[in-house]
Amino acid sequence: MGAALACPPVEAASLSRHAEPDLLGSRVRLRPLTVADALPLLELRRRNAGYLGPREPRRGPDYLTLAAQESELREVAANRVADRGYAFGIVHGDDLIGRIALNNIVRGVFQNAYLGYFVGHDHNRRGFATEAVEVIVAHGFEALGLHRVQAAVMLDNAASMRVLAKAGFRREGIARRYLQIDGTWVDHVLFATTVEDQRPSTGRPGRKARPDTHPAARII
Ligand SMILES: CC(C)(COP(=O)(O)OP(=O)(O)OC[C@H]1O[C@@H](n2cnc3c(N)ncnc32)[C@H](O)[C@@H]1OP(=O)(O)O)[C@@H](O)C(=O)NCCC(=O)NCCS
Repeated sequence: MGAALACPPVEAASLSRHAEPDLLGSRVRLRPLTVADALPLLELRRRNAGYLGPREPRRGPDYLTLAAQESELREVAANRVADRGYAFGIVHGDDLIGRIALNNIVRGVFQNAYLGYFVGHDHNRRGFATEAVEVIVAHGFEALGLHRVQAAVMLDNAASMRVLAKAGFRREGIARRYLQIDGTWVDHVLFATTVEDQRPSTGRPGRKARPDTHPAARII
């Protein structure tokens, strides 16, 4: 009994797959990631290691191990509990085909999250990333009370820029030596959308920010 009661919230959140509902798109759903996803995430990343490497930070030698994936997913749970970030698996049918997250959330007068995502090479060019972006952005604005979501894209990543344009993001400009990718500080194009923007998939006009829609959004 003591062990169950003593179980910290982060541990509980990292293990319970159904703690939060999936977010539904028309062809993909976004499933809150838990430690139970470590093996499918590892397999997805192993299959796509060569493809994703040039777009990601340089990783340690043990990155593509089950222990490293579990460790990352515990951090995912801790971030969710602390309202720092929300990471989801992109699921098509029963298959985990990608990952998407709202990261580094800052509340107060910013109410901003940084968006990151990938879709496995086998499932590219079918609109899955665009749908996942649209779904997570709607969740960020409607459920999490965010005002702004931004994303940074390498200058040669035409597919990702196209995804963001289709999902209604606007290009804000170039940030020099913005992120360290595969060991080098690389220029990025910054994209953003705010809650007032019209959403292309629904044609719905944007709306005024309601910063009180999520409990944490009230914290200054
Ligand atoms: C970028 C990425 C997420 C796109 O996933 P996806 O599921 O193929 O995306 P979608 O199918 O929703 O849309 C891709 C769009 O880019 C276009 N595209 C793909 N490759 C392209 C290229 N080399 N040049 C120009 N456009 C390209 C597609 O035609 C499509 O546009 P369309 O619908 O107008 O035809 C995926 O390629 C990926 O995971 N890449 C590696 C990681 C990464 O770059 N993540 C983003 C970091 S900012």
